[in-house]
Amino acid sequence: MRTVKTAAQLRAAVSAWRKGGDTVAFVPTMGALHAGHMALLTAARLAARRTVVSVFVNPAQFAPGEDLARYPRREKADAAMLADAGCDLLFAPGVEEIYPTGFATTVSVAGLGDVLEGEARPGHFDGVATVVARLLALVGANVSLFGEKDWQQLQLVRRLAADLALHTKIQCVPTVREPDGLALSSRNTYLTDAERAVAPLLHTVLIEVAEGFRAGHTDALAAGRARLEAASFRLDYLDLRDADDLTPRAAPPGRVLAAGWLGITRLIDNVAI
Ligand code: PAJ
Repeated sequence: MRTVKTAAQLRAAVSAWRKGGDTVAFVPTMGALHAGHMALLTAARLAARRTVVSVFVNPAQFAPGEDLARYPRREKADAAMLADAGCDLLFAPGVEEIYPTGFATTVSVAGLGDVLEGEARPGHFDGVATVVARLLALVGANVSLFGEKDWQQLQLVRRLAADLALHTKIQCVPTVREPDGLALSSRNTYLTDAERAVAPLLHTVLIEVAEGFRAGHTDALAAGRARLEAASFRLDYLDLRDADDLTPRAAPPGRVLAAGWLGITRLIDNVAI
């Protein structure tokens, strides 16, 4: 595996592959890689001949007071995991490479970027949309892979790729979970042992809400919220939405999405109904 730090090196490597007729798959990440990220790489290797993974902790998607400073950074371990898993190219840029002096453009996805996560974390999705648009433009891959764990982000990226007429196809990968149901996340390392024991309840409740709706219980969301709050979750939301545009829905089909805090750790998850 080659590691490059500049956009120029990235472009040169990708265009050499393209000249040789190779297809390219791209996985953007913020590092502290786990089996969820590696599932994206596995899907990427099946989707194209060559794979590029980026590791960039994007300051623009953290609001002031969020966990940018303590977000886990494990450059060496990440590079070793990617090399072992057969990644061809690691793009690990510094902040100045992604946001050079004079950078002035913000990509903002109206509607999809303003609800749920967008409401709880103002500015977050402008940061995500801007960096993803720039990374997709830089790599120029045939396909880029995103996890269902961040369902709203996935829908937002689909929207921006369509709206900006990007040539890269957006492909999704199912959520990878611990045996007890907790979705893998780089932020799970913040959990204390006691919080870690409670954390899988988020997924359990999502399943219960989905089953409740299927059984015709109109109070399924209220029951789910109460169960999480009783277990010391501080909920940002637990809601049923249209799976594509995330507008509110009173009944299935749709997607049940949740975000909540255990201590200093913010967890998100979602399931289909
Ligand atoms: P990050 O949280 O590192 O996630 C990178 C990709 O891995 C995202 O597409 C995310 O949905 C996926 N992912 C994370 N945990 C997963 C799990 N348990 N199962 C399956 N996929 C999982 O999401 C970001 O970074 C950033 O917002 C980014 C898109 C890189 C832009 O900065």
